[in-house]
Amino acid sequence: MRICVIGTGYVGLVVGTGLAETGNKVICVDKDEEKIKKLENNIIPIYEPGLEELVRRNQKENRLSFTTSVKDAVSNSEIIYIAVGTPEEDGGTVNLSYVFSVAEEIGDAMENGHKIIVNKSTVPVGTARKVKKIIKKKTKAKFDVISNPEFLKEGTAVQDFMKPDRIIIGTDSSQVAEKIKDLYEPFVRTGNPILVMKIESAEMAKYASNTMLACRISFMNEIANLCDKVGADVEEVRIGMGKDPRIGSKFLFPGIGYGGSCFPKDVKGLIQKGKEYGLQMKICESVDMVNQAQKKLIFEKIKERFKQLKGIKIAIWGLSFKPQTDDMREAASIVTINLLLSEGVNIKAFDPKACENARELFKDRIEYGDTPYDCLRGAEALVILTEWNEFRNPDFEKISQLMNKKIIFDGRNIYDPARVKESGFEYYCIGRDKSR
Ligand SMILES: NC(=O)c1ccc[n+]([C@@H]2O[C@H](COP(=O)([O-])OP(=O)(O)OC[C@H]3O[C@@H](n4cnc5c(N)ncnc54)[C@H](O)[C@@H]3O)[C@@H](O)[C@H]2O)c1
Repeated sequence: MRICVIGTGYVGLVVGTGLAETGNKVICVDKDEEKIKKLENNIIPIYEPGLEELVRRNQKENRLSFTTSVKDAVSNSEIIYIAVGTPEEDGGTVNLSYVFSVAEEIGDAMENGHKIIVNKSTVPVGTARKVKKIIKKKTKAKFDVISNPEFLKEGTAVQDFMKPDRIIIGTDSSQVAEKIKDLYEPFVRTGNPILVMKIESAEMAKYASNTMLACRISFMNEIANLCDKVGADVEEVRIGMGKDPRIGSKFLFPGIGYGGSCFPKDVKGLIQKGKEYGLQMKICESVDMVNQAQKKLIFEKIKERFKQLKGIKIAIWGLSFKPQTDDMREAASIVTINLLLSEGVNIKAFDPKACENARELFKDRIEYGDTPYDCLRGAEALVILTEWNEFRNPDFEKISQLMNKKIIFDGRNIYDPARVKESGFEYYCIGRDKSR
């Protein structure tokens, strides 16, 4: 099939490349000329494991190309994906201006034949119908607009897209459903379902899924904070809970709050949708509130320990919102670093992939290490903010030689408290028993 994907970011690039990998002819469009130039030269503007090789191969084999022209891409395609950003506006409403402006451009470019417009962006219920109206005003050509929310996770995006646990198609047309099912058949050969449903249900399923996941995180964070007070160990509690098959063991890890480009904005998007209909989304509001407070927790622990922070040096390991990505959107590290900076702390940070993005955010307000150990010289404390694997088994002897004081604040519970204490460290983490 001939396909174009408008918006070549974390989602669009993976979707476009994945569809090319299964034999389709795909054009990825972005208005960012520099990004498109890089991609034409096989330079991937984001860090996503496995993606570079796929882009290179599919470009070489002429199944994948890049352009800045929506018009060319749309007129050469039967299926048109919208994968532009839907960021949060002040107050938490979803900014749909990118989606709507792409809809206008698609309408302007549509001349002949029947086309299927697939909405991949995460959009509030009702958006697909609005997109349809916008396009209809611009063209007499025949088309359908469907919702096909994306469930990939940054860090394992290629694998998630190539082997999805489910594919959701929201459409009114059984013919269109069959065509999109054909397109996705190669991705579900192990029997995972392609679920066809109402457009509104598909749009809602994405928000409900992300908010449920965010809910588990906020719930566990609340439990961990209580464990801290009552002397329980959240690690034991987590395992005890997870063995109940109705609960399951995934997504029960407490920490310093969820970040990224999806959970925070999608939870707020759902709250706003409720408001539009006079419904207070009380659970969603609490999930968001707990998360915002949790993002400040590690700073509060540091402040409580040191009281006076002005002029002290702190080393930070991990900046991205989670491991295996360079994405820093809504990362908990941003909150922690800004709070530390506001108290006059000198920060030297290391992240395996996100330093370039961090430099854009913090400029030279913080220093950046070339290695994790590089940040430690003269530091009063080490603060772990992202659970990259390479931080899990460090050389504690080397750490203690480099640091001024042997103190670790672990926002991701990656160490065994007993072992760290054995190495002579003062250890602060989230909800774990400190008496052992
Ligand atoms: N990032 C994720 O993990 C993830 C997962 C599932 C769903 N989503 C959803 O997918 C959507 C895209 O997210 P993302 O993280 O890929 O965003 P992104 O910011 O990485 O990429 C969006 C791209 O769209 C481009 N763009 C904007 N307007 C354009 C236009 N008029 N024409 C051409 N290109 C245009 C931007 O230049 C940018 O490259 C969002 O709705 C998001 O919520 C994201």
